[in-house]
Parts: sequence; C-alpha cells; structure tokens
Amino acid sequence: MTTTTPTSAKDRVVIFDTTLRDGEQCPGATMTLEEKLQVADVLDEMGVDIIEAGFPIASIGDFEAVVAVAQRVKNAVVTGLARAGMNDIDRAGEAVRHARRPRIHTFLSTSPVHMKHKLQKSPDEVLAMVVASVTRARNLVDDVEWSAEDGTRTEHDFLCRCVEAAIKAGATTINIPDTVGYTAPHEYKALFEMVRARVPNADKAVFSVHCHNDLGMAVANSIAGVEGGARQIECTINGIGERAGNAALEEIVMAIKTRNDIFPYETGIDTKMLTRASKLVSTVTSFPVQYNKAIVGRNAFAHESGIHQDGMLKNTQTYEIMTPDSVGVKSTSLVMGKHSGRNAFKDKLKHLGYQLSDNQLEDAFVRFKELADRKKVIYDEDIEALVDEKIAHSQDRMKVMSLLVVAGTMGPQAATLTLDLDGVHKTVQASGNGPVDAVFNAIKAIVPHEAVLELYQVHAVTQGTDAQAEVSVRLQADGNTFTGKGADPDTLVSSAKAYLSALNKLIAKRERLHPQHGTVAAE
Ligand code: KIV
Ligand code: ZN
Repeated sequence: MTTTTPTSAKDRVVIFDTTLRDGEQCPGATMTLEEKLQVADVLDEMGVDIIEAGFPIASIGDFEAVVAVAQRVKNAVVTGLARAGMNDIDRAGEAVRHARRPRIHTFLSTSPVHMKHKLQKSPDEVLAMVVASVTRARNLVDDVEWSAEDGTRTEHDFLCRCVEAAIKAGATTINIPDTVGYTAPHEYKALFEMVRARVPNADKAVFSVHCHNDLGMAVANSIAGVEGGARQIECTINGIGERAGNAALEEIVMAIKTRNDIFPYETGIDTKMLTRASKLVSTVTSFPVQYNKAIVGRNAFAHESGIHQDGMLKNTQTYEIMTPDSVGVKSTSLVMGKHSGRNAFKDKLKHLGYQLSDNQLEDAFVRFKELADRKKVIYDEDIEALVDEKIAHSQDRMKVMSLLVVAGTMGPQAATLTLDLDGVHKTVQASGNGPVDAVFNAIKAIVPHEAVLELYQVHAVTQGTDAQAEVSVRLQADGNTFTGKGADPDTLVSSAKAYLSALNKLIAKRERLHPQHGTVAAE
C-alpha cells in the first residue's frame, strides 16, 4: 500500500507550466510565435521543469510554435498536447521530437457525462482508446503523460482501471485533472490517496494535479493533491486559462516556499523571476493583472492603512509574510534621466532581466531618450513598459504615426490620426462622443471593421501626473476575442496603440484564414 507521507523531508515537486497551451486557450490570450518564445525563455530560465508549448494538431501555427519552443528550450522538458487519436499523437510526436527532452501529453475524458455526451463511447471503448493512445505515444517518445479529462467527476472504479491500463501501456506521468473546477481540497487529496492505494502499478508513475479555478480553489486543490501523493503540478503564470483560469504558478510556488513548515516540498523555481514572468505574460496576452492578485498584483505588497504602515515601520514581519524581494519586486527607484548613457541603460536592462540583441537595444535606447525628454522621472516600471510594449507590438502591421486630439468642454471632440499601414500612410479626421471615442472612430475610418469594443481600461504605470498610461482594449469579432495593450505618457496615444494592437491581431487572424483578402493597406 502506498503512503502519502513524503519520502524525504523536502520532496521535490515538478512544476509543469501550461501558460502556452491551457493559458493561451482562453479567449483573447493568443500569442504570436515570437511572444511564445519570449515566454518559453523566461519559464526555462526560471526553473520550470516542463513546458507545455501548445496543441500541435490544433493549427499549423500551434505546431510551429511547439517545434520552435522545443528547438529553443535548454533545460525544461517540452511537451505538446494530443487527443487520443493517432493523428493527434503523431503530430505531437513530430513537434516535440526537436526537444532535448521531449514528452507527449495525451488525454481522454473518463467521466460518465463526457463519455456519454462528448465522446459517445462506452467505458470499454474509452479504456481501449487509452491503451491504444498511450502505446502509440510510447512508440514515439519515452516520456508520456496521460490525463483522465474530467477526472474529478469520474467513477472511482473506472478511473483506477484507466490509470492502471495507461501505466501498463507505458505512461510515465498520470494526470487527474479537475477540468471543470469542481472539486474541493480534502476531496482531491483523498482522490489521489485512493488511486495510489488501489492501482497496483501506481508506483511506476508520477501523479499530477491540474486544477481549474471555477470555484476559486485551484491553488488550494493543487496543494491538497500534492498532500495526497501527487508530485507534479500543472499551472499557468497569472493563473490564465479556460474560463476562470488554471491554478496560478506564482501562488503555488510561494505557498510552498512560505509555508514550508506545513507543505514540506521543494520546487526548482527561482522565485525572484515571478514578477518578471507575470509582467511578460500580461504584456503579451494583454490581460491586465488584477491589482489585489496574490504575489504579483501591484497591491500585493502595498500597505496603505495607518495601523499597518506603523507596524511595518517598527518591524516588517508585523504584516509581511514574504518579502517583495523574494518574488522579484524591486523597490521603485529613480533610475535614470535624459543624461543617462547607453551603458547605464544597458546595465539597467540587464538588471531588470532583459537580454536584448544589439538592434533591439539600440531601438529601446532611442525610445528611452524620447521618453526622458517628455517625462522628468524615469522609474524601472517605465523602462519595463517601454521594452514590453515593443515586444508586444513587434509584429504589428498597422502603427500610429501621429495623433492630434481636440478635447474639453467645447465639443465635439475630434481626432486627426495618421496610421502606417504596411508602409502606406493614411490620415483621417473623425469626431466622437469624447476624445477616446473620436480616436477609435478615426481608426475605424481608416480600417473599417465591425468589431465590438468589449473592454477599455487605463492604469498608470507609476505615480505622478506625467506617468505613462497603460491601456488595455478587448475587441470581439467573428466569435473571437482580441486583446491589445499600449503604453505612452499620453493616454490618448496609448489608447490608439492598444486599440490598434487588438485590431492587428484580428486582421492577422483574418488574413491567415482568408489570404485572398489582401493587405491591410488595400482594404
Ligand atoms: O483541464 C483539462 O482537463 C485539461 C486536460 C487537457 C489536461 O486541460
Ligand atoms: Zn485544463
């Protein structure tokens, strides 16, 4: 009989990041290949053990991204997801074979409701598919993970039969996902204890947790699963993912680190990189991080009330259970000004964790100088916004060239906007119900489209009235969501950039699907 007691004082728990697969699957979080590579680099450097890079059969783009991540990653295992069909598995095998350490992750639903309505298959047919799919994957790679989709709503006897068969067919990791975010911590822990106790060959595989956050319990459930004997945690940066998201990597890692007295496990994550990873994922997905989000929210280490501030001044341990430094939050500092030179700027970027090519560095330096001309005080956050912005917009085909806005009480508010569309400049004037509306109407006049604006959000990158404004925009079109972000000391310029960034993604998708529609400039 297996035991849930860790075999060593500090049992190693493997961190499996699925930001690029389950995270990217959530509406609007689509990343370009270049962005996926940036995220993969940070995950690898941070010490993530396994990177799930995508779902290779889903599209050519997904396949190419998994290949590119597999070729690039130095340390982590790289995996691609596959359904139980042979084509899926072969495609995943083809994509990950470029990795130094490849894994195929194949899954199949096992719950009564999924088998009946989604798969329309009997339990025996499903069991046969488990064996066939794992066997096929094992013929391609040595490292195979099998997931029982909707595992937490699966009948125990059947779950045990599937797990035993998957291990026998060669699965080296068994994942029991809480696909619909339904379980509770004590129940999930008991599920792993039950499976590990009942399945005769359970000791031949590593067990894995994969939790969705529909009831806000994904992180608690993940840790409970580890207490039940799982030794792999599947999670995403900032908790992005389907519906309410996946378990947040940064919360899991910091819970284990901070409460190591009651969670005696170890991860290989360099926690000082958590903030950097969070900002990067927020930038490339254009998903803002909630202010009060644990670990990486901008208020996570802010102490506002007088009583708390007084306590903090006397001893930081009064209200601080972990230090900002431990998750890579640097105290906001006055860093540079318009007289700072190239070398100081290069040093600062290195300190902030960026590795830029000479061309990227030169471009960032020019933009830093432009910003320094407009803004007296430049903080680390300003530099991060400046570089991240460039990363987010590097593939954009439509860019803001100039913008002049008439605003104030004497309407109508109007915008004169010039855009660069694939090298062609177009200028229009438009009015609107307020300056932001005028700017967006000007964009619509140049690039006619019928997307619906679902979200418009502004926040200041730092303090001060000359702070850069970071704007997030979400557009809805063709049944898809497209998000965009822009940063600039002028809120209206960042609004235009953010709207265009989302529109760039929309147009790129349309052109991918209907190449005959021609270039943006021709529309
Ligand atoms: O939530 C889920 O069940 C999944 C599986 C594909 C692992 O994402
Ligand atoms: Zn999932």
